[in-house]
Amino acid sequence: MKKTFYLETFGCQMNVVDSEQIVDLLCGIGYSQVDSAEKADLVLLNTCSVREKAERKVYGHLGRFKPIKDQRPDLMIGVGGCVAQQEGERMLEKVPYLDLVFGTHNIHRLPELVQQAEEKRQRGSVTEFLDRETRLNLFPQRSVRDAVTRFVTVMQGCDNFCSYCIVPYVRGREISRSSAEIVTEIEGLVAQGVREVTLLGQNVNSYGLKEQEISFARLLHRVNAVEGLKRLRFATSHPKDMTAELIDCFGQLDKLCKHIHLPVQSGSERILQLMNRGYTSADYLKKVTRLKTVCPEIRLTTDIIVGFPQETEEDFQATLDVVAEVGYADAFTFLYSPRTGTAAAKMPDDQSMVLRQQRFERLLELQNSNSEKVWQADLGKTLAVLVEGESKQGAGQLFGRTTWNRIVNFPGEKNLLGQIVPVKIVKVFRNSNLGELTTDACGQERDAS
Ligand code: 5AD
Ligand code: SF4
Repeated sequence: MKKTFYLETFGCQMNVVDSEQIVDLLCGIGYSQVDSAEKADLVLLNTCSVREKAERKVYGHLGRFKPIKDQRPDLMIGVGGCVAQQEGERMLEKVPYLDLVFGTHNIHRLPELVQQAEEKRQRGSVTEFLDRETRLNLFPQRSVRDAVTRFVTVMQGCDNFCSYCIVPYVRGREISRSSAEIVTEIEGLVAQGVREVTLLGQNVNSYGLKEQEISFARLLHRVNAVEGLKRLRFATSHPKDMTAELIDCFGQLDKLCKHIHLPVQSGSERILQLMNRGYTSADYLKKVTRLKTVCPEIRLTTDIIVGFPQETEEDFQATLDVVAEVGYADAFTFLYSPRTGTAAAKMPDDQSMVLRQQRFERLLELQNSNSEKVWQADLGKTLAVLVEGESKQGAGQLFGRTTWNRIVNFPGEKNLLGQIVPVKIVKVFRNSNLGELTTDACGQERDAS
């Protein structure tokens, strides 16, 4: 009988891509994927350590698998991703029923670890960081499974060391792939039916700087020219590396979606400096103004941390001011969480949790009302939607996204998959829209196919 695995993925898009590679590797050694731990011979968690809560969850989740292993001692349990990278061998000590641990640079060694666990029932952990050359050779080329949209990793790692952030410690230094390889991969994806790609990296705006490759803006131009590709996105951007050349792409490239995720983190100059972000809020706002000038329809989303050490009411107010001024379509808001080993974790900090929580609620209230204004404005409009798949809501229901990355559910036939269609927005919810196909012109993107 075929061996089976169950995989759960936490955290960012990097982990989503890593999980796709994990699936490919395990299928390559004769495993097939199942949808519950109860049915699996191997259970894997791909973990996130960006905040403490995410990290704690890993141990909670592992606890869920213990009774299954008590009943079926042959069950193998493994942990990968950022928590694995950070904790390494220690995880095997802390969790006696854990069989294998693999770090962020060691996914390619998973088959070896699994086979070792199968044959000798030997527990193993690999979390070494690899050198540049080896990593460049290991960039994942994952198989395509009937996808309309795909992530394509263009760079990995981060050299920024924002003072609160664990990522540079668990993902290692920045490396960028060659532009030729990226374009070839995208041409291959398009040949297999992919219509939209998101270029992915911890800080895509510093793509190629070390390697003296073309700039990220030039890379966007090259990808935009790939025939058959309909849409192009990228994530995540660091405001300090957002060049004028890159901003101008939003006015020049027809396939580049009119959305950018541009994490501001704080609106206070003082806090931004303590965060080691490398820009002032005045710089940030200038870049936003330029984005809106070259592309008036653009919508922005952001990340904000509330309760950074030593944040005063005045600092917090500066954040609220930026949020009001930019008018973000959405914001991911986080309560500061100290991460051992980072510079911020050593900063004196005497704010009460209650105060932090109150500020968090105030920010949320402002952003919720901003978001509602932005999304409600689409009610009754006809928008261009790239059809991505069948909606979870049942047969005859499709879903796709607008240029702003907003999900729209609407009734329609499966043969529309991969096409850009005009959809009239009839209802606006918190996180998605409901629409209906229409023949009205939408004045946005047009589908040549
Ligand atoms: N505490 C709270 N939020 C954090 N982020 C990163 N590190 C921390 C931390 N220690 C947030 C940032 C980042 C997003 C992915 O997670 O806002 O942009
Ligand atoms: Fe973390 Fe800053 Fe790097 Fe983003 S740019 S991954 S926040 S260190």
